[in-house]
Amino acid sequence: MPNAYISGTGFYVPPRVVTNDMLREEYGIDTTHEWIVERTGIEERRFAAEGVGTGELAEHAARQAIEAAGLEPKDIGMIVLATLSPDFAFPGSGVLLGQRLGLCEGDGATFVPALDVRNQCSGFLYSLGTAASLVQSGAMKHVLVVGSETHSAALDLTSRGRTVSCLFGDGAGAVIVSATDEDRGVRKWHLGADGRYAEALCQKVWDMRQRPFIPQDEQGRGIVDPSLMWANMEGRKVFKNAVQRMAESLMRVFSSENLTVNDVDLFVFHQANLRINQYLAKEVLGIPEDKLVNNIMRYGNTTAATIPILLAEAERSGRLKRGMKVATAAFGSGFTWGAAIIDW
Ligand code: UT7
Repeated sequence: MPNAYISGTGFYVPPRVVTNDMLREEYGIDTTHEWIVERTGIEERRFAAEGVGTGELAEHAARQAIEAAGLEPKDIGMIVLATLSPDFAFPGSGVLLGQRLGLCEGDGATFVPALDVRNQCSGFLYSLGTAASLVQSGAMKHVLVVGSETHSAALDLTSRGRTVSCLFGDGAGAVIVSATDEDRGVRKWHLGADGRYAEALCQKVWDMRQRPFIPQDEQGRGIVDPSLMWANMEGRKVFKNAVQRMAESLMRVFSSENLTVNDVDLFVFHQANLRINQYLAKEVLGIPEDKLVNNIMRYGNTTAATIPILLAEAERSGRLKRGMKVATAAFGSGFTWGAAIIDW
């Protein structure tokens, strides 16, 4: 059975920086830089320009990862794209990415399968587990895994939405999961879900259980109530469960690999809130600060993209090197969560 290792990483964030002060000054949100930094650690985030969506952000990150792996788009056997902010309700953004990479026309047309993963902040780990299994089974040689989000289009950028809208930013991260006979790669992953909390963090936009799924006015135009249009979050419930579930998931992968936290060189956690990660690291796992990478200060929460962006940045800065043991964990809407151990 081949091992499944990460042969290339890439990331992309749109150029427009939106600072906490800009949320107040440009959008008129009743908030302060101090409140946001104290509660979340976030200082700024990126917002994509009008007309730019998740497929486009994903393309930039994917091309970088493909090049870093020494491959060309036509070498990719499958696309797995994790997002909660696809360009359209359907089809998913994976097919748009395939088209953007030139896989649907001309000499490079391979028409490879494209799978969208809908597991929010855990989407990258769900995708990584899926890709690693496909590679280890021998079904695929190279799988492109992307986390890509365009949150800025769907944030209530008014004081009403301030608790949620100050948290999120746009961006994309990508990895190539490739087959190898070398003794390295994704060692173990664990995933979990608890649908009892589906509505503790959700954005319904529409409700297919209703007839019609969006209420209509007399002219037949859809009317979306703000409570459906924007994300709803029970922040404290999410915070508490995030710490507990990420810790449990990490312990499961550690124990099945006979590892302790001391064996790990780098911890790469989902970036929902710097305080969640600091609490998990210091109070629960007892990890020294220098084994942890965070970038939420600069990008906010980019949901499915946080972990692959961190991996790509850490690799480029020299923080993440060949031979290192990496532990990664995520938690988010669903609730869903997961953890993985990767020998880099
Ligand atoms: O990856 C997705 C998963 N998401 C998460 O992991 C998020 C987890 N939760 C959290 O990170 C925290 O719950 C938040 C950072 C979202 C909120 O922090 P909190 O300490 O739970 O604040 P809160 O919602 O209880 O609000 C406390 C106060 C309220 O005012 P009152 O009622 O005490 O007067 C809010 O209205 O802070 C107010 N508030 C704000 N003030 C200034 C809420 N948002 C803001 C804001 N600026 N942006």
